[in-house]
Parts: sequence; structure tokens; C-alpha cells
Amino acid sequence: MLNKVQIPEMIPEKCYSTEEVGISRITHDEHLKLWQGYAKKTNELRELISHLEKDPSKANQIYSSIRALKVDYTFAYQGLINHNIYFDTIGGKGGKPTGKVADLINKSFGSYENWVNDWKCTGMGGRGWAFLSYDHQTQTLFNYIGDAQNSFPIWNHTCILAMDVYEHAYYYDFQTARMKYIESYLQVIDWDAVNKRIENR
Ligand SMILES: [Fe+2]
Repeated sequence: MLNKVQIPEMIPEKCYSTEEVGISRITHDEHLKLWQGYAKKTNELRELISHLEKDPSKANQIYSSIRALKVDYTFAYQGLINHNIYFDTIGGKGGKPTGKVADLINKSFGSYENWVNDWKCTGMGGRGWAFLSYDHQTQTLFNYIGDAQNSFPIWNHTCILAMDVYEHAYYYDFQTARMKYIESYLQVIDWDAVNKRIENR
């Protein structure tokens, strides 16, 4: 059976520095409950899947227990992973990146300004997430759209930056003005944390 994942106990302290750009403590504290929910449901689903009677004659693509549990498992576990990356990579100084990520952004987008423009469009175009991911095949970066927790990751990539654009991430602070939230977010990216993710890719 798979091990249990750790339930996040608190928002990393550095994240609260985002208050300076309008992303509030209340938003983060409420967000923690959702982050914990993904971890708890991941553990619950691991338990259920491990104890499920594995009878191939009962497995069915229209509806079956194995299908329901395994589809929602990806929503729960990917939701946990997305939030792990989100809270690991905010609470920094934002602005222009340095180090390896700066080189990769220049290689992949031509310039930081081009990347920002693409990131803003991706953030406005997604229903839930924008993901900056390293493609091991091309050794370049790409900004991916995420509609739900489990769409649309792609194989052979490492996600190095995840921006939550579900309304719970910004509505309390910016109401429906998502672009204002994205502009604030760009000022608090922790590029050092992103560079560590690249090192560990
Ligand atoms: Fe979220």
C-alpha cells in the first residue's frame, strides 16, 4: 500500500509577505484548508483503492468503483502537488529571475518580458492554474494551462512554478479582477525556490 502523504500544517511564513502586494493573510489561511483537504483525500483514496476488491469482471469504463476512485485520486493528489508548488514558490522578491531559470526563460521565450506576457495570457486563459514546466525532451520551458487540478499535466515534464487562478486564490482581495492578482503575483515569485526545483528536476 502507498504511504500516507503529509498533511500541510501551516502556510510557510514567507508567503505572508505577499500582503505587501495585496494577497492577504486571510486568503492564505483560508487556502490552507483547501490544501489540507487535497492531502486528506489523497490518503483516504489510497486506503480505499488498496482495499478495493480487484475483480476485472466488475471494472467498467462507464461506471465502476475502480474508475471512480482512480479518476478522483488524480484530482486529489495532483491538487496536493499543485498547492505544494504554489506555496513553495511565492513569498519571494518577484521581478526578473536570476540563475538557471533566467537562462531557460531567455532560451525558451526570447526574453523575460515575452515570458511575462505569455504567463499573463496563460493565467487569464486557464480555469484553475498556470504551470511553468521544464520539458525534458526539448530542454526548454513552456507555460501550460490547467483547467482543474488534474488537467492538463503532460509526461516527461517537471513543473517548476504553479500559479493558482481559481477564484479562491484572489476573489477576497481583488474580486473578479484576476489580472490585478496576476500582476501582484509576479511581484512575489520566489525565484530561488524555482531554481531549486530546476536543480532537482
Ligand atoms: Fe487553490
